[in-house]
Amino acid sequence: MEVTITKDGTTKRERYHSLIPQLSALVKGESDPIANVANIIAALKQSFGFFWVGIYFVKEDELVLGPFQGTVACTRIKKGSGVCGTAWEKEESIIVPDVDLFPGHIACSHFSRSEIVVPCYKNGKIVAVLDIDSIKLDDFSFTDKEYLEKTAEIIASVL
Ligand code: SME
Repeated sequence: MEVTITKDGTTKRERYHSLIPQLSALVKGESDPIANVANIIAALKQSFGFFWVGIYFVKEDELVLGPFQGTVACTRIKKGSGVCGTAWEKEESIIVPDVDLFPGHIACSHFSRSEIVVPCYKNGKIVAVLDIDSIKLDDFSFTDKEYLEKTAEIIASVL
């Protein structure tokens, strides 16, 4: 079993476990999609200290940058390009343990070493992708995938 101890002594799984209900509570009573997505992104960044957390929205044939926390990033990504465009095209979550080994990875910052991208589905279609970067190699596991897919469902529910 994967056990990652975070700075305050809890495991990643424990931290996600307490975060998910908080995300639902955070968006309750607010109807504005950008306000809600911005707060979910901020909560992820605050809880785990990831280097970069953000969302790209599907707009026509491209992904377009939405709310994010971190360094400036590329604004548009084509279907099939980079990790984000590949997750959109293949319709699956992608864990990249070492970004230098992912063909076509789009480097927004040289600090980023590993990455996870999770699609957000609404009515069976991908409407956005959640992208998280870490400065550590191999920082994302199936625990992240499992809980970030739940997070993506919450994001899709507010769009
Ligand atoms: N690395 C991503 C691009 C977005 S940035 O990481 C914020 C990719 O390859 O799609």
